[in-house]
Amino acid sequence: MDLARHLLRSTLGRKLIMAGTGVVLIGFVVGHLVGNLQVFEDPDRINGYAHFLQSLGPVLWLVRIFLLVCVVLHIWSATVLSLESMKARGSEPYRVKKWIGATFASRYMRGTGYVVLAFILYHLAHFTLGAAQPATFKENLPHYVMKGDYHVLGVTVVRAGAEVLDCRQMVIGGFKNPVVALFYMVAVGLLSLHLLHGAESLFQTFGWKNHSWERGLRAVVTLLCAAYFLGNLAIPGSVLLGMLR
Ligand code: HEM
Repeated sequence: MDLARHLLRSTLGRKLIMAGTGVVLIGFVVGHLVGNLQVFEDPDRINGYAHFLQSLGPVLWLVRIFLLVCVVLHIWSATVLSLESMKARGSEPYRVKKWIGATFASRYMRGTGYVVLAFILYHLAHFTLGAAQPATFKENLPHYVMKGDYHVLGVTVVRAGAEVLDCRQMVIGGFKNPVVALFYMVAVGLLSLHLLHGAESLFQTFGWKNHSWERGLRAVVTLLCAAYFLGNLAIPGSVLLGMLR
């Protein structure tokens, strides 16, 4: 209890909360992308996967609540830290110098954060609640009949012949609208920039950054963020180009 209070009240504690929740959220977005890339495989894959996730029931809700708590703590710590540093910089005469020295990603951290938040809210209305494009939402599409079994870690979790929601057609139907597809592309681009600076900062917070490997670390993080961006871009992009039907 004392540790939690200390973490919430001290600047270092808030930095640790921001970095720790950042790690969880990076884990989620990377895992989500890996799952989503199954859209390029046989339809059994992504539809079996989506059905399996939905069948987790209470476990899925526990994960959702945990992620929501992480998002709230991440935004709270970022806001408080940013207000604190603005206050501290108010009395500092070399503001312009600092601004020039900052990288593009770090300067736009707050802006990209707002867009990511707006994107998540739209995305939930789109694919989880079905409010954005009801015509192509799960229940309004014909069911998909599994051709084979779907396994997770060698265990059959969805059997051949099972009628499941057609997640693949929902995603494709959604991105057939160019405005929606372009919005996703821009949002994942900004999310990747947010991740780029966030990942670098968290190494600093955990004290894993030093001069000898700073450049190498930056190169690796930049490559991973570029791969993340391209992976996400590929899904709406392929639908727009008619390569995913
Ligand atoms: C092209 C990119 C993306 C595609 C195709 C996609 C697809 C989907 C789909 C189909 C669902 C609904 C799953 C279901 O209910 O069966 C979903 C849920 C979700 N997605 Fe994405 N997603 C993408 C990018 C993202 C990104 C970048 C984030 C985070 C910043 C994100 C966060 C979420 C969240 C929080 C949910 C709700 C999970 C739940 O219902 O518990 N997605 N996504």
